[in-house]
Amino acid sequence: MFNLNTYNQQINLPILDEKEIGLFIKREDLIHPSISGNKYRKLKYNLLEAKRLKLEIILTFGGAYSNHIAATAAAGKIGGFKTIGIIRGDELANDLDNVLENNKTLKFANSQGMDFKFVSREDYRNKKEEVFLKKLKEEYGNFYLIPEGGTNELAVKGCQEILTAEDEKFDYICSAVGTGGTIAGLINATTKAQKVIGFPALKGNFLEGEIRKFSKENNFWHLENEYHFGGYGKFNEELISFINSFKEKTTIPLDPIYTGKMVYGIINMVSNDKFQRGSKILIIHTGGLQGIEGINQKLKRRNMDLIQ
Ligand SMILES: Cc1ncc(COP(=O)(O)O)c(C=O)c1O
Repeated sequence: MFNLNTYNQQINLPILDEKEIGLFIKREDLIHPSISGNKYRKLKYNLLEAKRLKLEIILTFGGAYSNHIAATAAAGKIGGFKTIGIIRGDELANDLDNVLENNKTLKFANSQGMDFKFVSREDYRNKKEEVFLKKLKEEYGNFYLIPEGGTNELAVKGCQEILTAEDEKFDYICSAVGTGGTIAGLINATTKAQKVIGFPALKGNFLEGEIRKFSKENNFWHLENEYHFGGYGKFNEELISFINSFKEKTTIPLDPIYTGKMVYGIINMVSNDKFQRGSKILIIHTGGLQGIEGINQKLKRRNMDLIQ
């Protein structure tokens, strides 16, 4: 059911030959159609822990297009759990039939048996507060809580398994960053000779602290904060056209929220001689391809080219 023999695919582009850079991408997106990339890695030990605790309900948080919501619903179904998604945006509840018809992420999660509770943006901000969680326990009974984006210690433990001994030959490991769990796992799994570079998909300088909470003392990592395209979920024509042309040239699909921004950043850095000649770089494909449809709906409304 899960394809854990993911391989490193070499990327061939003229700019890489010109700059003598060996660029590879770990195809974690191929692990499973719905629980792909870092989602499998983050959920694995959490669901095992929920089983160990004999809890039957998994409750988690996310936005209406969240990869994590879709993957948790699918993983919950496979693992025999009831799943509850606390979704940001109470306005969505006013027109639920229409939302479920038009939002592929929520429609899919619902088809996997996930129940939703739509909360206001203000309530959503309280998602870590005891009072808020206590109310949810009163409503749903005892549940196993997975935080937004799926990041906690067990998720980081799972993400440490992304890299294998064979990957020690790479000088750089690159990952998209949302909540910081995936890159923390990568930092914990690399050798001192390697550098980890994170590409935040959102604006703001709070991520370094989050990453440090979960990663070992290691100074061989940094974030490239210039490739978020305006913030979380934001995009422009240049990004969409990059994603389409990259797929055409390499056959590799990228999503517009995370991996597309990261690969754009890496190619931009290669072009600007940010990597020494002869460097070997490994990109982690963290999946997220289910998010393409939501962005394509937005592109259609704006009369822009769609992601192919
Ligand atoms: C496809 C994809 N890539 C990367 C990330 C970033 O992972 P993290 O939240 O662990 O930083 C996410 C979000 O969780 C994601 O959905």
